Amino acid sequence: MTTTWPIPGIGYGGDYNPEQWPRATWDDDVTLMRQAGINLVSVGMWAWALIETDEGVFDFSWLDDLLDLLHRNGIAVDLGTPTAAPPAWFFAKYPESRVVTRDGVALGFGSRGMVSPSSPAYREAIVRIASALAERYAHHPAVVMWHVHNEYGAPVSECYSHASVLAFRTWLREKYQSLDALNHAWGTTVWGQHYTSWEHIGAPAAAPSVVNPSQRLDFARFSDHQLRQCFIAERDAIRAHAAQPITTNFMANQHWGVNLWEWAREVDIVSDDHYLVAADPEAEIGLAIAADLTRSLAGGRPWIMLEHSTSGVNWQERNVAKRPGEMARNSMAHLARGADAICFFQVRGARWGQEKFHSAMIPHAGRDTRIFREVVALGETLGQLGDVRGSTVHAEVAFLWDFESMWAQDLEWRPSVDLGHKERMRAWYEPFWRRNITVDFVHPSHDLTGYRLVVAPAQYLLSKADAANLDAFVARGGTLLASCFTAAVDDNDAVHEGGYLAPLSETFGIRVHEYLPLRQGDALRVALEGTHYGADVWAEDIEPLSAQTVATYIDGPVPGAPAITRNTRGEGVAWYVSTRLGTEGITTVVEQAVTDAGVSAPVTPPGVELVTRTGDNGSFAVAINHRDTPAELQLHGTDMITNLPIPTPLRIDGGAIVVVRLTPEHPSLSTPTESFMERTN
Ligand code: GLA
Repeated sequence: MTTTWPIPGIGYGGDYNPEQWPRATWDDDVTLMRQAGINLVSVGMWAWALIETDEGVFDFSWLDDLLDLLHRNGIAVDLGTPTAAPPAWFFAKYPESRVVTRDGVALGFGSRGMVSPSSPAYREAIVRIASALAERYAHHPAVVMWHVHNEYGAPVSECYSHASVLAFRTWLREKYQSLDALNHAWGTTVWGQHYTSWEHIGAPAAAPSVVNPSQRLDFARFSDHQLRQCFIAERDAIRAHAAQPITTNFMANQHWGVNLWEWAREVDIVSDDHYLVAADPEAEIGLAIAADLTRSLAGGRPWIMLEHSTSGVNWQERNVAKRPGEMARNSMAHLARGADAICFFQVRGARWGQEKFHSAMIPHAGRDTRIFREVVALGETLGQLGDVRGSTVHAEVAFLWDFESMWAQDLEWRPSVDLGHKERMRAWYEPFWRRNITVDFVHPSHDLTGYRLVVAPAQYLLSKADAANLDAFVARGGTLLASCFTAAVDDNDAVHEGGYLAPLSETFGIRVHEYLPLRQGDALRVALEGTHYGADVWAEDIEPLSAQTVATYIDGPVPGAPAITRNTRGEGVAWYVSTRLGTEGITTVVEQAVTDAGVSAPVTPPGVELVTRTGDNGSFAVAINHRDTPAELQLHGTDMITNLPIPTPLRIDGGAIVVVRLTPEHPSLSTPTESFMERTN
């Protein structure tokens, strides 16, 4: 693993696809790139057909020209391998390499992401193209990083081809060693699925009714493994020739069938693609989740925001354009949460094809536009933030994020379709965001030392070993806060021996007797310290053992029964919330758990996001006002853009961003001066 950061200062740029344009346009592009302060572009991801024009026949002339042009203009290159979109000749020669869906449909050419990761011909082809590129460009002075493939797992992560079935059997043999072990893990006595031969095992393709969920979960793991093997094959092919860091662009909070905890170990630098959910009026919160998750995947080290958008995208139902200043706020929020490079899809907007309505750094209307002016301004800002590079973000709170648990929860025949992990994650994250309590994400197996509070909004699947890890965290003095439907099953998607939540029963001091989902649209209330809070979708029949009942159900399926419990265990505390609690209730519970845990954070006016990074060059606070009205902040230091001391209080205009180099006497922002409830209401 190489950890050399590819760019001096903060990286700035985007995907650049000049093969879509005449050569003369490239010269204009680099002029505009220089004007915008762009210092890093990703090229080549979609150019396989133009580089390997027939099997084993290469034409590097245009790429040579491009890399030389960029280098002459001081623009560094993140060189992509084009393996997410093989050429037409490949599919003509190897039609069996196409992705086959669960329904048995072989997906066609004319798009991208349509190759089976288990196809032997594909594996051979990707190593050939990656090796050829690395051999030619390993020592090209423009190339500072390698970018393998594009968004592994998207748009499809599972393939049901014949090659996949064969590879799945091999993977299962390795995992289980014996058919007995497999039969036991999958519970194949249910519905008569007992296997007597490895050759009888297939991919969990569409069947008359629901397919064995343990088999489906293993197939999801296998599919993730196959994709990762493709990455590793390309990475190693590049590494045989080249020393630059190697990345592949994640989509951290999309969980497209890739277990990014595993992937993060394999890349030199973590990079992410993130797009706002246009339908969400507070999309900056979703952005913060993605950025915190990406930083966590990177083990706290700086990461690259490799693709986001200057304005609207093209693939949502209503592609809302960004408002003036929003692109900069988004970019700075990524930077605040640990990104050391800010890049976009893409430099010049495409005139042709599927993505022609996607925004770009150079829009269709050209340089004399609001977007290009904002792109230039952002480049100037980032150019002044070089000292921030390498600094890190500290968090005392960790949220459990487990891709496998999410895959399992998404399978069929769960108690209620209305309880989703993504929604719960967001609901519990929101009060932390509003309170400027920075959050890391962790896998339940991770070392939790150093965290005061661990939140489990959606940990449906939990192995016994990981439950022991959480229990030890509490016993040592940590605070654990879990939402409903936690630890229902083990890592085979089998209900825990002893019932739901059994391996954490002593931790929470409760037993779960039954899940009690509500009818669609029904709501209920819980009483907590005399106040009634709304909830819906879900209740549980729980029995306190050692736990104290903090809130009771007023109505719903079990009126009068415990709804929220708090248990002291060893040196710590464990909270269990047995319903899908609404915003106010969550805020109250979070306030109490935060108090239990002794977590503090800076106080800012509503809508002002404030995150601190600390490194060798000092501490830096990034304050972003997401509202239209001005706000006042108590900070001490120097404005990094104007180089002037910050007035106290600092007035931050509606929509504005301030980056402050904090004075060493006031490096910490964590002095709460008003109550949590006032702040979050
Ligand atoms: C992702 C992909 C890009 C492009 C954008 C569109 O970032 O990697 O190739 O399709 O989405 O938003």
